[in-house]
Amino acid sequence: MKPRNIILLLLLPGLAVFLGWRFVRPMNIFVVDDRFAWPVDTTQTPAVLGRLRATDCAACHQSFYEEWRTTIHSQAWTDPYFQTDWQFDDAQHICRLCHTPLDRQQPHKVLGYRDRDKWDPILEDNPDFDPELQHEGVTCAACHYRDGKIVGVLGDTDAPHPVKKLEDPNQVCVRCHIVGGDRWDTFFRFPPCGTVAEIESTLAAVPDKRDLEYLVTLTGKKGAGSDSGADEPFDVTGPEAITVGKSGEVTASNTRVLGCVQCHMPLARRPLVEGGVVRDTRQHLWRGGHDPEMVKKALTVEFVEIERPEQESRMFQLTLTNTGAAHYVPTGTPDRYLTVHLRLLDEQGGVLDEQSYSIKRTVLWRPFIIDLRDTRLPRWQPRRYELEVPGDGGAVKVEAEIRYHLLAESRRKRIGYENRTPINYAVFHKQIPLQAGIEEAANE
Ligand code: HEC
Ligand code: HEC
Ligand code: HEC
Ligand code: HEC
Ligand code: HEC
Repeated sequence: MKPRNIILLLLLPGLAVFLGWRFVRPMNIFVVDDRFAWPVDTTQTPAVLGRLRATDCAACHQSFYEEWRTTIHSQAWTDPYFQTDWQFDDAQHICRLCHTPLDRQQPHKVLGYRDRDKWDPILEDNPDFDPELQHEGVTCAACHYRDGKIVGVLGDTDAPHPVKKLEDPNQVCVRCHIVGGDRWDTFFRFPPCGTVAEIESTLAAVPDKRDLEYLVTLTGKKGAGSDSGADEPFDVTGPEAITVGKSGEVTASNTRVLGCVQCHMPLARRPLVEGGVVRDTRQHLWRGGHDPEMVKKALTVEFVEIERPEQESRMFQLTLTNTGAAHYVPTGTPDRYLTVHLRLLDEQGGVLDEQSYSIKRTVLWRPFIIDLRDTRLPRWQPRRYELEVPGDGGAVKVEAEIRYHLLAESRRKRIGYENRTPINYAVFHKQIPLQAGIEEAANE
């Protein structure tokens, strides 16, 4: 046997063991960044804030509380999909750091980490653990409490609690909505939850006129009672405007271009407390994938016949554009996806033929984490699908449907999530009759 072959024979088992291990090892899909590696320290809480529960804030800020209660942030812990997924994935402590970020929301204190990747925390029982606060998930204090103070953007209120002024409200969001994946064994194009990187890449790659106008509105206009009116409009072409540091830390100057708050917290004029001064405030709504109306806002859809004289068959075209979201659609967890369905229908509404497409991010998880394909919708880039109707097929109608999926049915089954609310729903539905003369379509 040649020496080269002997070396190969010796190496192969090693490689097999290595790959085998890659297939069974715990799959830590993201990097535990210092940004969220430690629970928020609440030891200096002033007495006026009580036990820091949302209900304590509600005693004065009732309307904000009522809004927050309707959101997924308030369910970030109790959300049955989160709970099932978390338990399926060995109930790791790491997940608590964003879904319940305050120290008192966690049954254990984090004393340190055994490993460099920070997936193996050294834990100790937490005598201050408050199970009720834990159930509030991303509660008021998760965003508003820092070092004994309440952070806010107004800075000139008459608050009974200490207040620290934030330069830009989007700074709040990036603590949890950036999850990096920059590690030797991961080959992500975008980090695992890539919302921020998607916005940056869109702004960098497509210097669209509409983006420039939009950036001026984000950075130049006075909004939410903040002092942003004094700022210079942003130069999107400047590298400093659109980069994230290697650690994932985003600085105040560039969180402004992200616009999270502008789109996810609509403006409202109202007092902060009953009988208080009326101010520009932001509604605490954060609608996203759980809300069909919000997803519809992201999309501009057109389904029409294309004129094709001198052709036997007819052609219909669906054009789908993300005009409403600065990030990709869908964004966030790679669970989310859209499906497009084009159908030929018979007299009874039966399906004669159907074409289906997925708009999703496909990640290979094992043995290495690699972004395989990404067909999601960057902002402003139209996506077209065609449906040909043969002359003699017996079809009387064509139909287009777009559905949003929170997660795939296969994943739901695999982790044993018994959903009580639908995991997918229609965001667009239109039928066009084929007979000449019938113009009006039955639209949703
Ligand atoms: C005892 C009543 C009271 C409680 C309890 C209270 N607040 Fe306030 N808060 C106020 C008042 C009053 C203001 C100022 C209103 C004004 O001047 O318009 C204020 C202002 C604020 C502001 C605006 C600060 C700024 O500069 O932007 C935020 C944010 C805020 N509170 C959040 C909270 C949160 C979160 C909690 C619970 C952890 C809380 N508050 C508990 C009364 C209260
Ligand atoms: C403390 C961590 C944390 C912070 C800070 C935070 N979020 Fe979230 N956010 C979450 C988690 C966790 C979820 C998912 C909860 C779930 O579905 O179980 C979420 C979900 C969302 C959703 C999705 C709603 C849906 O229907 O799926 C939107 C939109 C959102 N956040 C926007 C924001 C914005 C805007 C900010 C900044 C003002 C922000 N978040 C700050 C943790 C955070
Ligand atoms: C996901 C993060 C997040 C959570 C959770 C959250 N807030 Fe806020 N809140 C913000 C941001 C960001 C602003 C600043 C909005 C702006 O630009 O004016 C804000 C502003 C405020 C203000 C000042 C008025 C305004 O709109 O600027 C009050 C009062 C307030 N929040 C109270 C609460 C209370 C009470 C709760 C819990 C019931 C809560 N917030 C939960 C992010 C959050
Ligand atoms: C120009 C408006 C706009 C801006 C800016 C924007 N979003 Fe969105 N976002 C939307 C719309 C519309 C949707 C609904 C479509 C969808 O779910 O993809 C959405 C959806 C989401 C979701 C839901 C994803 C899910 O899994 O359900 C999250 C999370 C989110 N945005 C976070 C953010 C964060 C964080 C920022 C800032 C870094 C941000 N968005 C900036 C408009 C915007
Ligand atoms: C860095 C903060 C962070 C950490 C750590 C984190 N999450 Fe999340 N998680 C989020 C945010 C933000 C969202 C919502 C945005 C989105 O849709 O991507 C979310 C959404 C989810 C959802 C979707 C829930 C829904 O509403 O459909 C599941 C499930 C989930 N996380 C599970 C986990 C598990 C399990 C872990 C631990 C392995 C974990 N998360 C760790 C921030 C985090």
